[in-house]
Amino acid sequence: MKILGILGAHRKDGLTAQMLANVLAGVPAPHTTEMIYLEDYDFHPDQVGKRDPVLDQLTDQLLSSDVWVLAAPTYWGGLSGRMKDFLDCMRGRLVRFDHQGGTHPDRFENKHYLSITSCYAGKLENFVAGITDGSFRTIDKIMSAAGVIKINELVLPGTLFMKQVPAAKQAECKRLGSKLVTKPKRDDNTMKRYIELFCMVAVMAFLTMGIQFLFHLIYASDFWLIYASFVLIFFVLLASILHFFTVVKHRRR
Ligand SMILES: Cc1cc2nc3c(=O)[nH]c(=O)nc-3n(C[C@H](O)[C@H](O)[C@H](O)COP(=O)(O)O)c2cc1C
Repeated sequence: MKILGILGAHRKDGLTAQMLANVLAGVPAPHTTEMIYLEDYDFHPDQVGKRDPVLDQLTDQLLSSDVWVLAAPTYWGGLSGRMKDFLDCMRGRLVRFDHQGGTHPDRFENKHYLSITSCYAGKLENFVAGITDGSFRTIDKIMSAAGVIKINELVLPGTLFMKQVPAAKQAECKRLGSKLVTKPKRDDNTMKRYIELFCMVAVMAFLTMGIQFLFHLIYASDFWLIYASFVLIFFVLLASILHFFTVVKHRRR
C-alpha cells in the first residue's frame, strides 16, 4: 500500500509539515510513503483542449497511492490557499460531471484520506469557536464529492510560539500513521442504524409509558397521542445530536 502526503503550507519545515512527517513516519514497512510539497509544483487549471502537464503528473501520483494525507494550516479561518488552489485545479479530475452540471465520484472513488491542520488559536479557543472547522469542512466537501473516504483528522492548535510539535502530538500522529494501512471500509449502514435507533426509541418509550400508565401517572385516553409525539420528537432530537457529534463536529484539540 502507498501513502501519499500532500503539504499545502507556506513553510516546508513548519509545524504542519512536522505533523505530516510524523504521520508518514508511523507507516509500517513494507508499505511505502511519498510526499508532495505543493509549492514545488507550478500547476494551473486545465484549459479547453489543453490539459496542464503538472496536474497530469500530480494526478498520476494520486492515482498510484491508496491513502492521501492532506496537510494544510488554517489561514484566515479556512484552508490554506495553496491546498485550496490545488483542489480547485483538480476539480475536473476529481469528479465527473453529468449533463446538468452535477458532480459524481470518478477515478479516485474509494481511496482514503486523513486531513491535518494547525492554527495559532489555542486548544480552548479552537474547541469553543471551531477555528479549524472551515479547513476540515472544505477538504471533507471536496473529498466527499470525489468519493474519497475519510479515515480521520488531526489538529495542532496553539502554534503561535511553538517551535516543534509536542511529543504527545507526535506520538498521536505516528499512531494514526500506523493505522492508515488498515483503513476502514466505506460504511453504508447509516440508514440501517437510524432505523435501528428509531425502533429502540419506540420500544423504550413504550416500556416507560407503560410503567407510567400502570402507576396511573398518565391516562389511557392520551396514551397513543403522547406516545407517538414523544417517539417522533425524541428521535429527531437524538438523531440530530448524534449526527452533529459524529459527522459535523470536527476535531478541535
Ligand atoms: C496568512 C495566514 C493566516 C492565518 N490565519 C489564522 C487564523 O485565522 N487563525 C489562526 O488561529 N491562525 C492563523 N494563522 C496561523 C497559522 O495557522 C499558523 O501559523 C500555522 O499553525 C502555521 O503552520 P506552519 O508552521 O506549518 O506554517 C495564519 C497564518 C497565516 C500565514
